[in-house]
Amino acid sequence: MRRPLIAGNWKMNLSRSEAAALAEAIAKQVDQYPAVDIAVCPPFVYLEVVSRAIAGSRVALGAQNLYPEPSGAFTGEISPLMLCDLGCRYVILGHSERRQWLGETDGFINKKVHAALKAGLQPIVCLGEQLAEREAGLTLEVIRRQFEGSLASLTAEQMLQTVIAYEPVWAIGTGRVATPHQAEEVHLELRKLIAQRYNPEIAQQVVIQYGGSVKPDNAQELFAQPDIDGALVGGASLKADQFLGIVAGMKK
Ligand code: 13P
Repeated sequence: MRRPLIAGNWKMNLSRSEAAALAEAIAKQVDQYPAVDIAVCPPFVYLEVVSRAIAGSRVALGAQNLYPEPSGAFTGEISPLMLCDLGCRYVILGHSERRQWLGETDGFINKKVHAALKAGLQPIVCLGEQLAEREAGLTLEVIRRQFEGSLASLTAEQMLQTVIAYEPVWAIGTGRVATPHQAEEVHLELRKLIAQRYNPEIAQQVVIQYGGSVKPDNAQELFAQPDIDGALVGGASLKADQFLGIVAGMKK
């Protein structure tokens, strides 16, 4: 059966010493939650200091991006192999902020997903509709398009190594969380898409997180939905007590 995953996406926040302190505070308390996988995804420049802070704990390390080549003349970019070298297990790909501000397309995200898997990293692939798309009744269509594009050509084995994060853009950083029903509808659709492409057993095993204004006081009702397997947390992952409060909401 699938294990829930709660991951902190720290985005472009914190100083080096704050990053180390936050990671240490989380690592100290995770043993209370043996049924939940936990990861933190700091900015690239803090991966090493955070890796030291979580050493020996159950907290896994994730990055927030990669460039889909092993090495070479790609000024300013970071390769999958470098992330492995630093002890990363996960990498967030296709986040809506990168789609929106850096022009990332499903095709480019798909290249990154393949590069991550080839290097042995587990991609956390984000998808989600914008507010205008939801209001126009296009949510499931957008989800299908992003699923087909970002997750194209994965073998069944690769699909099982991949985490999907449903993050409605209108819920990110807005305090406006999707209702459990709204989120569950999309998660169920994603599981149907996986079942259609592979088979129902594989669909049952893929971890699908929800992301967008998850807080300790709304986590439990989201996690109570049958197809929501944890969360990708932004703002509330920057405070150990809030992040752990969300982890504590996972009772499955
Ligand atoms: P918030 O939790 O701040 O809404 O951010 C969600 C997110 O984008 C996680 O990747």
